[in-house]
Amino acid sequence: MTNDKLPITPKEDFLITNSKLSSRRPPYQCAVLVCTNKRDQGRVSCAGESRPGEEICRELKEKVKSSGLAQKIRVIRSGCLDMCDEGPTVLVYPNGNVFTGVGLGDIETIIEFLRKQISRQNQ
Ligand code: FES
Repeated sequence: MTNDKLPITPKEDFLITNSKLSSRRPPYQCAVLVCTNKRDQGRVSCAGESRPGEEICRELKEKVKSSGLAQKIRVIRSGCLDMCDEGPTVLVYPNGNVFTGVGLGDIETIIEFLRKQISRQNQ
């Protein structure tokens, strides 16, 4: 594949399209990756031992849905995000913010942060 076969318009330079591959914006504004990695014995992980990675992911999904944000925010279960010691870890795109040491009591704060991110994007 050569670059000259990839038509990229100046206005939408994020688009890369050819006969086999296409790229476009996702149908949501924020992707929220929640580490639910669980390791057995020894090495720390966001959903291992007493860490609530799984519960955080489930709660965030439910809260996004019940808040009417499901069309704008996608919560995604993730493997290790390489910040294990600081976990549980939540990573927000497109801005790249990382929340570490997340607990179930932080769900509302994260939702509020996401609301503000979406509001800024829509200005
Ligand atoms: S196990 Fe969650 S960041 Fe590594």
